[in-house]
Amino acid sequence: MISRPWPGLLLIDNWLGFIGFGRMGGALGHRLCQKTACQLMVATSTPLPATHWAVAHDRVVRGSVADVFRQSRIIFVAVKPQSVNAVSPDIAAHVTSDHVLISVMAGVSIQTLMSKWRTTAVVRTMPNMTVQVSCGVIGVYGLDLLSDARQQSVLAVLAVCGTVIPVANEDHLHAFTSIAGSSPAFFYQMAQVMVAFAVRQGMRRADAQIAVAQTMAGAGQMMVPPADLDQLITDVRSPNGTTHAGLTHMETSGFLTHWDGVLSATYQRSLALAQGMQS
Ligand SMILES: NC(=O)c1ccc[n+]([C@@H]2O[C@H](COP(=O)([O-])OP(=O)(O)OC[C@H]3O[C@@H](n4cnc5c(N)ncnc54)[C@H](OP(=O)(O)O)[C@@H]3O)[C@@H](O)[C@H]2O)c1
Repeated sequence: MISRPWPGLLLIDNWLGFIGFGRMGGALGHRLCQKTACQLMVATSTPLPATHWAVAHDRVVRGSVADVFRQSRIIFVAVKPQSVNAVSPDIAAHVTSDHVLISVMAGVSIQTLMSKWRTTAVVRTMPNMTVQVSCGVIGVYGLDLLSDARQQSVLAVLAVCGTVIPVANEDHLHAFTSIAGSSPAFFYQMAQVMVAFAVRQGMRRADAQIAVAQTMAGAGQMMVPPADLDQLITDVRSPNGTTHAGLTHMETSGFLTHWDGVLSATYQRSLALAQGMQS
């Protein structure tokens, strides 16, 4: 087999592959199409729905898994963890020493993936849906198992999609799933309660949604390290003021324990997926 040299950062101008192009794969692909000149070869089990943004996009081509491997060297695997067994034989049949596979699957360990896909060129990631805007964040494990040139190429691709946070221990990806992979939905759920509350008090829904969205975005920006979370809370919590009343209820009603439980349930589900996929 002839190995082609790795062109490093330039690869981003070439083809990238996707196996699975649903919500997460589609979000990553959308960002990459917006921000680079790359073309995407995507394999899905059924045709993309007519409403999918990629159907009308001239840089996205749908093909087989074999086409994806023929065309691209960096390939995202963005199927559900439950589909990994269905898709793996095809991956193992086509992977060569030219390819690097980037899994976005929750829970499925790198060891399991290496064994199912018969390659060691595997990186695990945990992105989230905010990759569609300029606030994406991606937990990554396994980069250091790649050659320097491959690390650079993979990092260049991921950096287009968001802030890349390498984790030192693969198990940290379970926690990353709780706090970043799944958490946009938790914030939206809280936002729903906030918007509904404001609407009940007579505010227009659109105004309330903008107020909540801007507050979330601004609070997020102010949190960037080295910001001190205690100080940020203190800055809003005037003694005996409105925020103090709300925070006191948070502290005494069990809300914070329940919130911790939300993260724990997510973490446990990620662990269970990992355990169920070990063979
Ligand atoms: N959604 C999120 O916010 C999020 C965040 C972080 C990580 N993730 C991870 O991203 C992965 C995908 O999640 P998702 O929400 O994007 O799910 P999804 O919308 O259901 O997308 C799954 C994709 O996989 C394709 N697929 C299924 N079986 C296949 C096969 N045998 N060969 C080729 N393609 C196949 C599906 O194609 P068809 O529709 O044609 O079957 C679909 O394009 C999961 O592993 C999840 O853990 C998701």
